[in-house]
Amino acid sequence: MARQRSLRFPKGFLWGTASASYQCEGGNTNNQWYRWEQQGHILTGEQCGEACNWWEDAEHDFMLAEQMENNALRLSLEWSRIEPAEGQWDSAAIDRYRAMLMNLRKRLLKPIVTLHHFTDPIWFAELGGFADEANIQYFVRYVRYAVEKLRDLCDFWITINEPNIYATLGYLMGMHPPGEHDFVLTMRVLRNLLQAHVEAFYAIRDLQPQAEIGYCLHYRLFDPANELSPLDRSAASLQDTFFNWEVLQAAETGNFSPPLKLLLPSIPYAPGSRDFHGVNYYTREMVRFDPTRPAEFFGRRFVHPDSVHNDPGKDIDFGEIYPFGLYRVLKSVYQRTRGNKPLYITENGFSDALDNRRPQAILEHLAMIHRAISEGIPVRGYLHWSLVDNFEWAEGWGVRFGLIELDPETQERIPRSSASMFGEICRANAISEEIVERYAPKALDTIFGASDGASYQVPV
Ligand code: BGC
Repeated sequence: MARQRSLRFPKGFLWGTASASYQCEGGNTNNQWYRWEQQGHILTGEQCGEACNWWEDAEHDFMLAEQMENNALRLSLEWSRIEPAEGQWDSAAIDRYRAMLMNLRKRLLKPIVTLHHFTDPIWFAELGGFADEANIQYFVRYVRYAVEKLRDLCDFWITINEPNIYATLGYLMGMHPPGEHDFVLTMRVLRNLLQAHVEAFYAIRDLQPQAEIGYCLHYRLFDPANELSPLDRSAASLQDTFFNWEVLQAAETGNFSPPLKLLLPSIPYAPGSRDFHGVNYYTREMVRFDPTRPAEFFGRRFVHPDSVHNDPGKDIDFGEIYPFGLYRVLKSVYQRTRGNKPLYITENGFSDALDNRRPQAILEHLAMIHRAISEGIPVRGYLHWSLVDNFEWAEGWGVRFGLIELDPETQERIPRSSASMFGEICRANAISEEIVERYAPKALDTIFGASDGASYQVPV
């Protein structure tokens, strides 16, 4: 009998899912997203409402994660619950988070806690939020308070989720609150978020010297529509640089490159202010030169026409499913940071309500991580976005990212086939040929050809 092929992951690899307070907890009515929702900005007209009911019973979903033999779970704290008014602290909110973290630990799910995932208390937004450098102190004070209360239960902190998405969707594209369209303001917010991360990092380091502390960036690839066109290449490369690599560089060194350097003060104490690189990766976009788009570096973005797609949202096209992009991102982050810290995939997921692309997509992305690891890139964990369907910001309930399907009306859960597959992979700490045959036989060649990279080419 032929020997079964398998891709094994390193011992101690973290397997889990990622989520955020507003998207899962329900009943959050004291942050800027609730206000945004009340102002009618949710494109489906839906409400977050009870979300996945985590404030009442996250434990039910933690049990499902345990049944999938995950060994980690990422969630976020809702600042507007912990500090509902400036300087006022709600100990009942802390108690609830303590109960959640204790439950995770009991189930051998390592808590990975994000301190800021897109939501700001209304009072903080009214002070100008992260647009004003003077407000960073409020964030750091909250971080100190929360970590002090929870440090006996968590030793893995993500300060800020995706500063580049928070800044661009809220301040440049106007799709998230506060709905601005201002490049200079966007860059200022981004810079202030990075400074907030640095200050939070040292505050946590002080309170909990042994903790692992980092932030996560959203990495998105921008490839030229026509590789032979210098104009397409330069538009794509500018978008790539500004969205991804300038941000990573500023976080690493404290300095942006010219011309941004003229606009943005450097970030004191940035070098060394992380224990890992959190990588959130979803997709890539193609870019064609377009002289009518100066604000987007003269590039029009579109989804590769011959690709396997995520389900589209109303405003956001969740785009191409492009596994090789994850390998490219991991390699680039590793090289640009000279391999100074381990990497975690802090988010990767697919909008696929029918679950007919997700199993193969998960397998192919994991194969790319395996390839990166086999080339010496220290990737230590994979957190899938997300455990259950949840409230997808301005897209409401319109797109479904869960391993487990959720009906928000009845709160009924139905595990998708991806959930059982993910469970089998976590249990085995490996992808076996048998798993691929059962869940996505079409991927056999790509999965097992992936370790030498032969079957993966960058399509242009
Ligand atoms: C965000 C999540 C979001 C996911 C899917 C990420 O950029 O961190 O909150 O649900 O993308 O769009």
